[in-house]
Amino acid sequence: MLQIHRDHPLDRLTTFGLKSIAEAYAEAHDAEELREAFAAAKREGWRVHVIGGGSNTIAMPRVRGLVLRAAMTGCRIEPLSEGGARVEAGAGELLDRVVRLSVSSGFGGLENLAMIPGTVGGAVVQNVGAYGLELAERFERCRAYDPDSDEIRTLSLEECDFGYRHSVFKTPSAARLVVLSADLRLPGRWRPTAGYKDLAAQLSAERLAHPTPADVERVVRELRARKLPDPKQVGNAGSFFKNPVVNRVKANELLSKHPSLTAYPLAGGRVKLAAAWLIEAAGLKGLKLGRAAVYARHALILVNEGGADGEDVAALSRLIVDRVKERFGVTLEPEPVVMGESAGNIL
Ligand code: EPU
Repeated sequence: MLQIHRDHPLDRLTTFGLKSIAEAYAEAHDAEELREAFAAAKREGWRVHVIGGGSNTIAMPRVRGLVLRAAMTGCRIEPLSEGGARVEAGAGELLDRVVRLSVSSGFGGLENLAMIPGTVGGAVVQNVGAYGLELAERFERCRAYDPDSDEIRTLSLEECDFGYRHSVFKTPSAARLVVLSADLRLPGRWRPTAGYKDLAAQLSAERLAHPTPADVERVVRELRARKLPDPKQVGNAGSFFKNPVVNRVKANELLSKHPSLTAYPLAGGRVKLAAAWLIEAAGLKGLKLGRAAVYARHALILVNEGGADGEDVAALSRLIVDRVKERFGVTLEPEPVVMGESAGNIL
């Protein structure tokens, strides 16, 4: 039976730890409870905000409507006769647990995604990626609940339309769908994905010419622990902005003025710039505003200095966007989703 809590604090339900109260809050452990939650929302006229691990969510001080935590857990690893394995994971399962389980069961394929906070559902919605691998590259299909038709649908890789930190679930046509579970495919003939600069450097420093999935997993964990704040100690939502993609002309103009700018050429002539470089070069690394700050060890991370709320974070985010725009003519786009009084994104 679904339990709905009124005026529920969200402080511990997002990794940013922002002070926030939701009009209503519930946890759905299966499709039936999800159904009950949407029925209640319809009755009460609530907008539904689905969260997973809350690691990509900015909760404003007051959230109108129902915050619904997708808590459908479970993870099954099925070895395949042709080699490799299929992983079936509930949307509410922590992605990092799935990574650990698969690698320790002897199947490589997810190790580059070690230590990414959040759940499988969230990982699908925003196509998480790190160290040269995106979830989409291991994705087979997912099941999702459609509250409009009250049906469960299966979506293929193509239907999910993944891109950089993007999927169909972020578009108006599918934003209402709630991911229930995902099937991932781990390759039979595993080869390390080790092209990412920091990862390649560390593997070669350790003289690991033929690393195992467990080696890669360990190195990724070490790299992340070195650079990124642990949300249990310092509230944050990982990278706060996407790395902006610009055309070749703009990239060349910036690179001629700033040769140290980190830029990665993409297929089709576009260029992805390191947002962290732009923020640092604009002099904003370590900047504090209210109770929020730009992390002193990585400029792409905004942190809660203690007792921050969504207004502090939104003000800091706007200041960064404005300064980077003024200085480099590039518009940064925030990654996290905002829950607040109204439907629009105020970051
Ligand atoms: N840099 C700076 N200043 C800094 C930090 C970095 O100038 O304070 C420059 C460096 O030149 C560095 C470059 O920025 O080479 C890129 O930094 P990093 O390797 O840390 O990666 P990132 O582009 O900032 C992305 C993802 C991360 C992911 C890492 C590793 C995005 C928005 N972020 O960060 O994902 O873990 O690569 O693959 O794509 C997340 O999305 O929450 C996340 C943590």
